[in-house]
Parts: sequence; structure tokens; C-alpha cells
Amino acid sequence: NMADVAVQPDGRSGGIVIEDDWPGYSLDLFSYPAHYSGDLDCVFIPHGVIMDRTERLARNIMDDLGDHDIVVLCVLKGGYQFCADLVDRIKALSRNSNRSIPMRVHFIRLKSYLNDRSTEDLHILGAEDLSFLAGKAIVGTGKTMKTLLKHVEAFRPKMIKVAGLLVKRVPHNWACLPDYVGFEIPNRFVVGYALDYNEYFRDLNHICVISESGKIKYKI
Ligand code: HPA
Ligand code: MG
Repeated sequence: NMADVAVQPDGRSGGIVIEDDWPGYSLDLFSYPAHYSGDLDCVFIPHGVIMDRTERLARNIMDDLGDHDIVVLCVLKGGYQFCADLVDRIKALSRNSNRSIPMRVHFIRLKSYLNDRSTEDLHILGAEDLSFLAGKAIVGTGKTMKTLLKHVEAFRPKMIKVAGLLVKRVPHNWACLPDYVGFEIPNRFVVGYALDYNEYFRDLNHICVISESGKIKYKI
């Protein structure tokens, strides 16, 4: 196997591996909103690389889908950009092939982080009625997976697939991995591309590492 492809126990690719010692790119090499100058350490994954990887995930999803309809369940807020771009790529592939794939998009909201720490209480909003999922193929996007899967499975869809842009290398994660993974990254707190620190940095295109002063500036 190539060094930068993660292989899961069942042989599936776990995405592009970013090693623990990856220093990221200097901020001087890219443009980013001026209001975040001083708040970031580095560009961890440039926006263009995210988009290129997402395009490939869209193709993998299309290949696996068969003739199922698709119900996309976007996990807000952090998953909105990935979901939008992934759906966009799937639509483009569907346009450029003979297969026309009916697709519906629903939204659910999860919240579990305060500052850069995961809190014990996971809030699920918008999940009261997931009955629309019955008999459909789902591609979920988001990171707080386990709790959500239990909710979704109760409605007995034909097929459930989870797409996650990022998987962090933490041991307990491997028990519950997305079917489609963009990047496997070190266990660091990252922001941008809709991922937030106390609601800031969602308006940053690249995935970046926040600086110590940035953490203090936006701390609650
Ligand atoms: N950044 C932002 N939100 C998150 C992260 C992260 O690294 N991990 C889980 N939620
Ligand atoms: Mg958050």
C-alpha cells in the first residue's frame, strides 16, 4: 500500500493520512480573512485539497449506490460545507452520466463542543421525526456519529452510509468509522471549512490550526 493511504481492517481506504508530525503550511503561502490574522498557527489542509478529495468521495459514493434513491442527512453546523460540496459533486457526476439519482437533503443539528473540548451532553436538534429515511440510502456527513446512527437505524433504511471529511486518530474512533473518509488527521483541534471554535472560524475556507492567542481571544 502507498504510505499515505490508510487501510481499515476490512481493506477499505480510510482516506488521506496526515501524520502527527505534519507542521502544516505557512499562513503566508495562502490567503485567508484578515480578521483572523494572529489567530491561526498554520494551514493544515488547503481548501483546494479538500475539494479534490471531496470529488473523489462523491465518485466512490456513486459507485456504491446502485439504483437507490438518496437521502442526505447533513449534520449541522460543522458539516454544512462538506455536505454542500459533496452534494454538489454528486449532482455533477449524476449530470455527466446516464444515471439520474433522486436526492433529498435533510438537516440535523448536533452540539457537543465547548471551547475545544467535547462535553458529555450531546444535543440532537431536528431529529424528532426521521421517518422520511425509511427505505432510502443515506449519506450522513458529520463527526458525532455513534449516537446519530442509533437514531437513524431505528427507521430501518435499506442502506446507511456515513461520509466524514475528517477522522481523528484516537483509539476509540476505530470502533465506529465512516464509510467514506476524506482525511485521517492527528488528534488536534482544527477550524475552518465550517468547523468552529465557539462559532468563530466557520468563514475560513482552509482547515487550519488555531493559535494559542486565538484560543484565548475567542474563549467563552
Ligand atoms: N474542530 C471543530 N469542531 C470539532 C472538532 C475540531 O477539531 N472536533 C470535534 N468538533
Ligand atoms: Mg462546533
